[in-house]
Amino acid sequence: MPDSNFIPTEWWQTGVIYQVYPRSFQDTDGDGVGDLPGITARLDYLVSLGVDALWISPFYPSPMADFGYDVANYTDVAPLFGTLADFDTLLATAHRKGLRVILDFVPNHTSDRHPWFLESRSSRDNPKRDWYLWHDAAPPGDDWRPGRERLPNNWQSHFGGPAWTWDETTHQFYLHSFLAQQPDLNWRNPEVRAAIYAAMRFWLDRGVDGFRMDVLWLLLKDAHFRDNPPGTALHTADQPETHAIVAEMRALLSTYPDALGGPFIAPVLGAMSGEPQLPDPATEPLLPTPYSLNPASPRLLIGEIYLPLPHLVRYYGTHEHPGANLPFNFHLIQSPWTAAAIADLIRAYESLLPAGAWPNYVLGNHDQSRLATRIGPVQARAAAILLLTLRGTPTLYYGDELGMRDVPISPDQVRDPAARNNPNNPAGRDPERSPMLWLDTPNAGFTTPDATPWLPLQSDWPTQNAAAQSKPLSPAASPEQAGQPPRSMLTLYRKLLALRRLHDTLHAGGISDVEADGTILRYRRTGLPEGNSGDFQILLNLSPEPAVTQCAPGTIVLTTLLDGEGARTGNPDTNTPAPITLESGEGLLVALD
Ligand code: GLC
Repeated sequence: MPDSNFIPTEWWQTGVIYQVYPRSFQDTDGDGVGDLPGITARLDYLVSLGVDALWISPFYPSPMADFGYDVANYTDVAPLFGTLADFDTLLATAHRKGLRVILDFVPNHTSDRHPWFLESRSSRDNPKRDWYLWHDAAPPGDDWRPGRERLPNNWQSHFGGPAWTWDETTHQFYLHSFLAQQPDLNWRNPEVRAAIYAAMRFWLDRGVDGFRMDVLWLLLKDAHFRDNPPGTALHTADQPETHAIVAEMRALLSTYPDALGGPFIAPVLGAMSGEPQLPDPATEPLLPTPYSLNPASPRLLIGEIYLPLPHLVRYYGTHEHPGANLPFNFHLIQSPWTAAAIADLIRAYESLLPAGAWPNYVLGNHDQSRLATRIGPVQARAAAILLLTLRGTPTLYYGDELGMRDVPISPDQVRDPAARNNPNNPAGRDPERSPMLWLDTPNAGFTTPDATPWLPLQSDWPTQNAAAQSKPLSPAASPEQAGQPPRSMLTLYRKLLALRRLHDTLHAGGISDVEADGTILRYRRTGLPEGNSGDFQILLNLSPEPAVTQCAPGTIVLTTLLDGEGARTGNPDTNTPAPITLESGEGLLVALD
């Protein structure tokens, strides 16, 4: 664990990010779809939960073929979600409450209704023709018939079927890594880069705290359009030149001061008033020495990147050309839920991080089956402790703090276009996108009582909503616990987030002794040299059976079931470790003596 002594100072290193899927968070106008005023109305919930930043999935004008990941205008708000003024109110209110706002930005593709694409497809000699990836049909073979043009190569859409669609007007194919309504931009064209950077500046100038960049590892494709070898994405993903683009994006963000105020040390990047230039290594070094991958970096660049760890960590960039601050690490989602696999993952990740790179972990998002469904409600409590006590920035998916599960979607309720071409996943991503559960009133307070939510609610919403999970215990339930917070998932998250904020070991300390003892995952968080807290031991039983491990002397500060706090561990007489039994899914956070 070479870099465990690195001391983070930026808000996005010590803080916690919360993803809001705007369609599903809070509706205020009764159309059954969430909106920006709804998010503003719920900011106090996020403050009381104890997170630091919200990342909002796309709310730009869009035909909604992929629910906003098909952008028709990068610098406005879809009427469905509100207005630019609503956004400004949301941002100002969030900042007043000390919350950061991160936008989802979709640079790989636009909507097919975006004016750029309408121009591009209008004729072969349109100035924007080269803004997208057009290609001639392959030479006709014996089987050629009109309307059966031959695909340029074997590239496949991530939503199934060929990644090429034939354009009847101009007699060429265009590339789309996702739906045909989402044509891919040509990132080798400097005009495209300048246009996207201008759109980023539009939001940075308004004061957003950063971007989550959609499918960042897919931005570039092979310049020669070579076939992918079977079963690989060799020529359509993770092209080496992508890193220079990520560095350009980062350089652009580095020119902006902290949107929330506070100390800001101007980056030594020279005047950056025009288009950001890729730093030229031949000229003077642009970053101060001793350099770091995170020189004062108040505006955050997150990359959505699904790659094996050795390739993922390259997206941090280099000291000369810093890349993403946080290349999203989805490996906890993809790992088997066993102590051995997760211990290996944490160790491998920590050892691969470049010097100065800050780790991060994600356990859920709008593209993945819900955590509590994947591993079950008992293990989901252990997962909460894991996510919020690992070294690095955690990203929470809305509703996971309530233990929300995938909601069954009947065939007539399917909304996700990705489901249509995917026989293996007929409900698509709708199950994990169901509305947030706020209250025990009709529609769980998500929308007006007589509206129809755009997706069905989880059926046990009357008892599993945020209000019910916050209600102090009544004397009838347990006389000695009366008035205490319930032992709900929400209380567990709130306590974890509060402990993480309080103890600098948890939000900024090191990590060591990551190991699997049978089915128990163990690791230690190590205190900072001048820190306010000492070391912590984390023990998580990831199996369906009870298990025993050793624990050094200390005091339990939190358990998954919110019981046993204050109990001692280890052998007090000899000041040595002692055996401790953990129930299935039980997790302990122990402040070591
Ligand atoms: C990303 C988004 C996903 C979207 C896709 C295409 O993976 O997270 O929801 O469908 O990009 O934009």
